[in-house]
Amino acid sequence: MMIRLVVLLQLGISAAARAAEFVGGPYLCNPRMDGMTVGWVADAANAGEVEYGATEAYGKKAAITMCDRIVLAPGAKSERFACRARLRELTPGITYHYKVSGNGMNGERTGQFRIPQHKDPLLIVFQGDDYAISDLDVRFVEEKVGRPPDLLVDMGDTIQHGGDFYDFKHQLYRQIPLVLAEGNHETDWPDKLASPHHLDFEGRTEDKPEQVVDYGAARWVVGPYVKYSDDFTAEQLTWIEDQLQGTDRQWKFYACHHIFFSDGYHSVLKWGGPPEGQSRRASVWPLFMKYNVRIAFNGHDHVYQRSFPIDQNGGKTPEGTVNLDPSIGNSVRARQSPWMARFLRSGDDPKTRVKGVTYLYLNGDQAKVEFHTRPLENAKLEDFKPFDGFTFTPTRFNHDSLVPAEIPTGTAPARPPQP
Ligand SMILES: [Fe+2]
Repeated sequence: MMIRLVVLLQLGISAAARAAEFVGGPYLCNPRMDGMTVGWVADAANAGEVEYGATEAYGKKAAITMCDRIVLAPGAKSERFACRARLRELTPGITYHYKVSGNGMNGERTGQFRIPQHKDPLLIVFQGDDYAISDLDVRFVEEKVGRPPDLLVDMGDTIQHGGDFYDFKHQLYRQIPLVLAEGNHETDWPDKLASPHHLDFEGRTEDKPEQVVDYGAARWVVGPYVKYSDDFTAEQLTWIEDQLQGTDRQWKFYACHHIFFSDGYHSVLKWGGPPEGQSRRASVWPLFMKYNVRIAFNGHDHVYQRSFPIDQNGGKTPEGTVNLDPSIGNSVRARQSPWMARFLRSGDDPKTRVKGVTYLYLNGDQAKVEFHTRPLENAKLEDFKPFDGFTFTPTRFNHDSLVPAEIPTGTAPARPPQP
C-alpha cells in the first residue's frame, strides 16, 4: 500500500513538473476579415493558450480549439503536437498583439498581425513544393515594396519537400497568415494527421479542402482538389463560378496545386487520360476570363513558370488570365510552349542552384507581380536579381506582360521526364 502511494505521488509530481516546450511557431492561418487562427507546435498535447488585444497588455484570451499529434515524415518517432486557437470578432485595420503561454506551456512566444481593410494596399508572397520562403525573402520583399507582406499563399506539397516547414521556425509565420492549397503529397500522405494540422477547419473540412478567403482587397478561391489528368466535376465548376461571381472584391485570384498550362514534366504525363491540366483548363479557363480572374496560381512542377495572359487555347490576349507557378525548384523543362513567357529551373549543382521569391502587390486598381532569384545558400539582400515582372488592372494586362522574354528562359531537360 505504501509502495503504491509513493509511486502515485511520484507520478503526480513528474506530471506536474512536466511543462510542454515549444518546437515551433507561433504561426497564423485561416485569415478572414474578422478572425485569425494562432497555431503553435509543442512536444506535448493541449498545452498553451493565447492572450491577445490591441496593445501589449492584451486583455482577451482564446483557448485551444483543436490540437493534433503530427509527424514530419513516415515513421518519424518525435512527438509533436499542433495546437490552434481561433481569435474571433476581430476588426480590420487594428494591429493585434498576441502571446502564447500558460496552461502547461513553458515560456512564452509573441507575435502581431493586422487584418487589412477592404481598400488597403495588399502585398502577397508565395511558396510551394520544395521551396518554403525564408525570413530573408520576406525582408527583401519588404524593402522592395516598402511595406510588410499581408498574406502568404502556399500551393501545396510543402509537407514533403519543404523540410522543416511544419515546424514554423521562421519569424515570418508569426506575422503573415498562411493560406494553403492542398497538394497531392498532403492528400496521399499515409499519416492523415500530418496533412491538415495547420487548419482549424473554419469554412472547410478535411475531405473538402476548397475554401474562399476574402482578405483585404482580394478574394482567393482555393479550388477543389483535382489530381493529375482528372477534370472538374459539374458540381465543382458550379462551386467555382458561385465564388467568382458572388463577391464585391475587384481582385479575384484562383489557387490550387495542380497546374493548368505547364512546360514542366507534368505537362507530358498521362494518367489514363490527357496530359495533366489539359481537361481542367478547357473547363475552368472560360470562367476565369468571364469573372476577371487575372492570375491562376499553381505548383506541382518544381520550376518557376509564367504564361502570357492567355485564353483557354493558349492564345495571347490582354483580357486573358496568367498561369503562374512560383515554386522554383530544379525539375526539368519538357516542352517549349508558345504561351510560356518565363521559365526557370534552379539547376542541379547546389553551389549554383537558385531559389527566389514571388510577390503580388495590389494598390488601388494597379497590380504588380515580380519574381527575384537568389543563391540557395548564404544569400544576402544584395544577391537578389530580377527574373520576371508584369503589371495589370482588374480587367486587363498592361503591355509589359505581353512582351517576349529578354532573358534566358531556362535550360532544356538534361534527362527524360519521369513521374
Ligand atoms: Fe505535386
